[in-house]
Amino acid sequence: MRKSLFVYLFCFAAMAGWQTSVAAETAAPVDSAELQPILAAGGDAEAGKAASATCAACHGPDGVAAIKTYPNLAGQGAPYLLKQLQEFKSGARENAVMLGMVAALDDTAMANLAAYYASQAPAEGVSEPENLELGRNIYQGGISSVGIPACMSCHGPDGAGNDAAKFPRVNGQNAEYTVAALQSFRSGARANDPGKMMRLVAHRLSDAEIAALANYLQGLH
Ligand code: HEC
Ligand code: HEC
Repeated sequence: MRKSLFVYLFCFAAMAGWQTSVAAETAAPVDSAELQPILAAGGDAEAGKAASATCAACHGPDGVAAIKTYPNLAGQGAPYLLKQLQEFKSGARENAVMLGMVAALDDTAMANLAAYYASQAPAEGVSEPENLELGRNIYQGGISSVGIPACMSCHGPDGAGNDAAKFPRVNGQNAEYTVAALQSFRSGARANDPGKMMRLVAHRLSDAEIAALANYLQGLH
């Protein structure tokens, strides 16, 4: 099972035209708990906390959003968070609300905010029983008939992501946000994924499969 998964990821990697080193990196997932403090050292979490008051209205004071269309940021990898903030600012990831939030921030302020949210405890949600198994099956095994690789080959068996590779944490995330994220990769409205990694994955997912994945991920930890 594990071996075929690798072969799969490898083919997918070649197809997407990446360096084989990316596949090698995912072959031995980095322990994010160990890496977190090292990477967080790139930013000052205390300064980030002080600057986060404006963010709390939507993302929650503890990085867990009360309104479920907004993403939880708690425990997300700092390198991924920094990349998103920079890309909202540059327009590589288009979102009018977030553009307004980051327009006045420089790289240091963004790194501090990223370090702060990365240092928080990730949210632990629950999954509904309906369609849970479909979500788990796709997450763990992909859909080989249409060439969709297993999500866990990049996001990790427990969905905690891979900080060094900037593969985001997807576990504990609000299902509404995950649905919107997968739909926007599918339509191409979100196009900030290197090597089209997520657009290639999402473009063959049906609405029902997206809903099942989002439900499964919300309760995964
Ligand atoms: C008015 C509500 C609102 C406020 C305030 C806000 N955000 Fe956001 N944030 C959003 C929305 C909506 C999204 C999802 C955007 C999308 O769908 O692309 C988002 C997405 C993000 C993401 C990407 C998360 C991911 O998983 O990819 C980050 C990082 C982020 N916000 C950080 C911040 C920071 C830091 C601040 C404060 C400086 C902030 N936000 C303030 C609404 C808000
Ligand atoms: C080849 C590696 C790879 C595979 C396989 C993969 N992803 Fe991703 N995924 C990524 C990367 C890289 C990003 C972040 C792109 C960016 O920089 O914004 C991402 C982003 C996401 C996001 C958005 C996270 C956020 O906070 O906005 C979701 C949700 C997601 N992936 C779910 C999935 C699901 C579900 C599958 C399986 C159907 C999957 N991914 C398969 C690499 C992968």
